Amino acid sequence: MPKRTEAGLPVLRMRPIPKGRRFEAEALEEVRALLGATPRRRDLLIEHLHRIQDRYGHLSDRHLLALAHEMGLAAAEVYEVATFYHHFDVVKDGAAPPPALTIRVCDSIACEMAGGAALLSTLRDRLGDRVRVIAAPCIGRCERAPAAFVGHHVVGPATAESVERAVLEERTTADVPEYRTLAGYRDAGGYGELASCARGERSPEDVMESLERSGLKGLGGAGFPAARKWGFVRAEPGPRAVVVNADEGEPGTFKDRHLMETDPHRMLEGALIAAWAVEASTIYIYLRDEYPHCRAVMEDALAALRADPPAPLPEIVLRRGAGAYICGEETALIESLEGQRGEPRLRPPFPAQRGVFGRPTLVHNVETLYWVPAILARGADWFAGTGRDGHPGQRFYSVSGRVRRPGVYLAPNGVTVRELIDDYAGGMLDGHRFYGYLPGGASGGILPASLGDIPLDFGGELGEYGCFVGSGAVVVLSDRDSARAAALNVMRFFAHESCGKCTPCRVGTAKSVALMEVDDWDRALLDELGAAMADASICGLGQAAPNVVRRAMEHFPEEFEA
Ligand SMILES: Cc1cc2nc3c(=O)[nH]c(=O)nc-3n(C[C@H](O)[C@H](O)[C@H](O)COP(=O)(O)O)c2cc1C
Ligand code: SF4
Repeated sequence: MPKRTEAGLPVLRMRPIPKGRRFEAEALEEVRALLGATPRRRDLLIEHLHRIQDRYGHLSDRHLLALAHEMGLAAAEVYEVATFYHHFDVVKDGAAPPPALTIRVCDSIACEMAGGAALLSTLRDRLGDRVRVIAAPCIGRCERAPAAFVGHHVVGPATAESVERAVLEERTTADVPEYRTLAGYRDAGGYGELASCARGERSPEDVMESLERSGLKGLGGAGFPAARKWGFVRAEPGPRAVVVNADEGEPGTFKDRHLMETDPHRMLEGALIAAWAVEASTIYIYLRDEYPHCRAVMEDALAALRADPPAPLPEIVLRRGAGAYICGEETALIESLEGQRGEPRLRPPFPAQRGVFGRPTLVHNVETLYWVPAILARGADWFAGTGRDGHPGQRFYSVSGRVRRPGVYLAPNGVTVRELIDDYAGGMLDGHRFYGYLPGGASGGILPASLGDIPLDFGGELGEYGCFVGSGAVVVLSDRDSARAAALNVMRFFAHESCGKCTPCRVGTAKSVALMEVDDWDRALLDELGAAMADASICGLGQAAPNVVRRAMEHFPEEFEA
């Protein structure tokens, strides 16, 4: 006789047998009801975990065991994935599940500068007995700092009162914005370039030649010339894939969100042209979980596109991240798309050679693809000409911190931070004097105001000062801030987000935080540790993590004098 649950259902053994753990038939029925007819493929594991988390508010042992059985996976495989991602709450046998509502208060740089830490502690005091109040790494609402999620609803600039009001009024769902629909986009000539490619009026070589001449570089952070990457992918045997990196987790970055929530079809057209050019049969869009409103927009936009396609469409798959900054790194992203922990792969092979499901894969940032249709429509010279001398092209900068009007601004490559502050963001906040800035989010280093006239672009002068523009996230500090505090905030972020795969990063970030939490920094040791991390970490997270710390010590020596 099989053992029975309290409800009288048999407790069945798992397949494959997970070291004596059992699951309940009742849990299996619940999981099956949630998954419905969706395939039980391994790559859908994270999607399936989301379904359970969304329905029950957490992932219990009983559901994880049942899911493992249902997908034909070992329990350990399901656990190792579920416990990797911050948005999954794995609750062990007998432990209390989290309260139904979670408030996530952003503790990254712009929000901390705007009082996020005080907000977090006030909210814990006021609401902690009713809801769960936790700190969260950058939620991509830096222009609304301090920002917080109440469920999926964003409050910002947030006060304890405005958050409490949202809780009381049960405003917990995402606000879906008005955006340029398919009809609006087409009225403005949208999808014309894709249609012309599909009709054979352009060849992939022409398109790549235009991109090359335009100077378009990857705007996810690395700045690699776009056309060259397309060429690498095309040179590999098919089937091929395109991946849209919409994971946007770099603290201070929110421009991709802006593009997706206002004009999703433009990025989609860019992705479709890329897929046509490299002859990819599938496009994957990997969207960070902190942008549920963008998910609604994207689902809507994709439905409209499929109902009335301007050209034959490849398979387009929208995937949901689960709260892990490292999944923005392209190989970690690919692992995540395959239903694994988001741990970066060793390179080579590069994604262009062997990417998602082993296919040659073109990975691009949302904004890189966003520019493709305009470059084809208006010409490579137009795009190149929008930049400054020696800095072809333009891009969207996310500007946050102590400026009057934080936001997303379109500006030429080579613009300076001083211009971004004065000519775009309305100047410094009243009573604040420009003190320093992070030119490229958490990864790109930190510079003093005296170096505020350096052109912001990949390489060049910025590189000579040990900094980089990366995703174009410019965080402005004033005389009320310090480079030390900024560096500590950033290092805590990296320690939290390190995937742990390699020792220099896993241990180096944690050790750096400990060294920076004391009054008297051991600067020589921090620098040595930073050099080891930069040299020996597997991926860009560990390599760039010490950047702000080392640049703070280099460019703000007065902060370290006794
Ligand atoms: C730790 C880390 C996080 C990253 N996060 C993102 C991200 O959120 N979005 C993005 O587009 N690229 C991100 N990147 C860069 C990607 O690895 C990759 O270079 C990019 O998606 C390629 O697209 P692009 O050529 O259009 O820039 C990240 C890189 C690292 C090392
Ligand atoms: S550098 Fe950090 S994030 Fe990258 S693989 Fe190593 S431990 Fe993971």
